[in-house]
Amino acid sequence: MNEELEKLEANAVAAIQAADSNSELQDVKVRFLGKKGEIGKQMATLKEMPHSQRKAFGKALNELKGRLINATEEKKKELEEKALKKKISAESLDITLPGFRFPTGRLHPLTRVWHEITDVFIAMGFDVVEGPEIETEWYNFEALNLHSEHPARDEQDSFYLGENRLLRTQTSPVQIRVMEKMGAPPVQIVAPGRVFRRDATDASHSPVFHQIEGLVVDKDITMGHLKATLEAFNKEIFGKDILSRFRPDYFPFTEPSCEVAISCIICGGEGCGLCKRTGWIEILGAGMVHPQVLKNAGFDPKKYSGFAFGIGIDRVAMLKYSIDDIRLLYENDMRFLKQF
Ligand code: PHE
Repeated sequence: MNEELEKLEANAVAAIQAADSNSELQDVKVRFLGKKGEIGKQMATLKEMPHSQRKAFGKALNELKGRLINATEEKKKELEEKALKKKISAESLDITLPGFRFPTGRLHPLTRVWHEITDVFIAMGFDVVEGPEIETEWYNFEALNLHSEHPARDEQDSFYLGENRLLRTQTSPVQIRVMEKMGAPPVQIVAPGRVFRRDATDASHSPVFHQIEGLVVDKDITMGHLKATLEAFNKEIFGKDILSRFRPDYFPFTEPSCEVAISCIICGGEGCGLCKRTGWIEILGAGMVHPQVLKNAGFDPKKYSGFAFGIGIDRVAMLKYSIDDIRLLYENDMRFLKQF
């Protein structure tokens, strides 16, 4: 093989080796093995060659061509393998890596307590109902014996939405709505929901908070039923050793009325900071439904009697979870909420 062919081979092999991709290799192939390529050019010189040399040169050229074809084939395989390896490593899955957790949501402490409280009453046979947050003066006040001179009706305390429309200041209007709807006893419901008051915000006041109203009406319902129900409720929510205290109170829509306190969940009655050294914590208001309220809702007070109660859901949540500022329940700070 002459020098020229040796040089050509060296160049071609170097170019094949240097090819870094299929398309680069294709270019090299065209350059050396293509119709107008280097090998082809050499083939064309055969015609002018003296007969004596032609055969040997032609043979050398064909062998060279064969070697270059083999070399490109090999290179092609090599590049393919390399590409495959790269693809595999890029797509590989390291199953020893720790999985990553999706953050799961959780219930707001108020929602949890709301559910806990309703569950206790459901177990005692109560139905759960809800009433509107926007009320009329009749349902929120009048029908509940809160007449227009009553201080609670002061616009200072309520959010009015115009003439005769306001955000309910208590869940008690649901008492009237339920009795009206049912038409006749027996009634045994609880009605949880949001209520609104124009209070200045501080650690124990929020313009929006939650109550759960309870109402039982039937023949011969007595204060004994009220006491037993609320005592059972207190034990279910705060623990079986909790004592309940009933003291006279006043609400325009119940007569007699009482305020219910539980023995302090921190000191058990000894006296501490939470119960302000009294040993007791007030948690709800209750009473026997006022005959006029039964009448207002279309029930005959001569035939039927009932009891009602209103529990502060926020207050129960704060006691259960030792939350000392009601605002925490409304700020939705994840650092706080994540603790529940
Ligand atoms: N509605 C009263 C309040 O908001 C609570 C209550 C409800 C009292 C039912 C007696 C009976 O303070």
